[in-house]
Amino acid sequence: MTTYQNDLILRMIRGEKTERYPVWVMRQAGRILPEYRAVRSKLKDFKELVETPEFAAEVTIQPVDILGVDAAIIFSDILVIPEAMGLPYQMLEKKGPWFEKTIRNAGDINLISDAIDVTDKLGYVAEAIKLTKKGLNGRVPIIGFAGAPWTILCYMIEGEGSKTFSKTRKLLFTDPALAHQILQKITNVTIRYLKMQIEAGSELVQLFDSWAGILGPAEYSEFGTKYVKQICEAITEVPVTVFAKGAYYARAEIAQTNCQTIGLDWHMNVEESRKLIGPEKTLQGNLDPCVLYADFKTVENKTKNMLNSFGNQRHIANLGHGVYPDTDPEKVKCFIETVKGFAIN
Ligand code: CP3
Repeated sequence: MTTYQNDLILRMIRGEKTERYPVWVMRQAGRILPEYRAVRSKLKDFKELVETPEFAAEVTIQPVDILGVDAAIIFSDILVIPEAMGLPYQMLEKKGPWFEKTIRNAGDINLISDAIDVTDKLGYVAEAIKLTKKGLNGRVPIIGFAGAPWTILCYMIEGEGSKTFSKTRKLLFTDPALAHQILQKITNVTIRYLKMQIEAGSELVQLFDSWAGILGPAEYSEFGTKYVKQICEAITEVPVTVFAKGAYYARAEIAQTNCQTIGLDWHMNVEESRKLIGPEKTLQGNLDPCVLYADFKTVENKTKNMLNSFGNQRHIANLGHGVYPDTDPEKVKCFIETVKGFAIN
């Protein structure tokens, strides 16, 4: 067991009394920091950064040094899973992810495999976590992560970003058995991948279900929560956070899984979420990332409003989604400092 100088986030998740709320920022590694862009510009592309443990560790530690967050999140991407399973991706400048091969029908199922050795395919992530752990030297815990199976399915079917992910939603109604077959394979690999990250030194893990909100409640229950639940049951070593963005209708259902923390986006009212979820889980979120475009006083006031809505219960302060790339890091610092100065009485 590592002894941490700052294990506030772990103590909060365990339900212990803490002096203040822990704070970190989704997508804090990369995007907003000039120091990140300096490392990134020395390399060929995004993937080289993800796949080179020394550099991935360096940019993982940057926000701990520069922003003063209470946790590091390992620099990687959710798309390493489809790639490891057989569908390589490219990260196109200004366009985002692009897959040359996608799954369109049952005949394409052989393009992916869950019979892979995750350490062989994704050992670079484990290596990056080990180097980060060394570099942090017990300052804060490291968050491991993966995409939730539904969100990964979206990329495997569409092969790129989409506003509606209608090809993937179409599959749920035209060939639900194929959708389940793929989701199960993703789930199997994701469990082994998260366990590898934990073994390498992650003290908590988060599932990003970024496209949960495009499904209706019945479909999310059948194709989303079902697999999130399996992952939460399999990961017993460390606390698990589930962030199902937009799935406000699924909060009570997610509360029934074995996760310890539930992420809220800014559409979700904190008090209402607490009622739906009950007192046992830690909640995480949920400031609208666009608040950080406002002046310092507004950032401070909106952050305090959010903290007041927490009502002294189990909470981790964060944004309601990833920080936007053109956000001024000073505003992010203002958000973090406001949380740190707000005492829980
Ligand atoms: O939180 C962190 O800072 C750790 C690193 C991290 C990245 N991606 C690095 C990244 C994490 C946790 C992710 C998760 C991720 N990736 C999600 C889920 C969270 C969310 O935002 O909903 C999703 C949907 C992806 C897929 C993805 N990766 C897209 C759609 C894009 C392009 C648009 C964008 O977000 O910039 C990426 C690229 C990506 N992943 C970048 C970074 C720092 C930007 C590329 C670059 O620096 O060149």
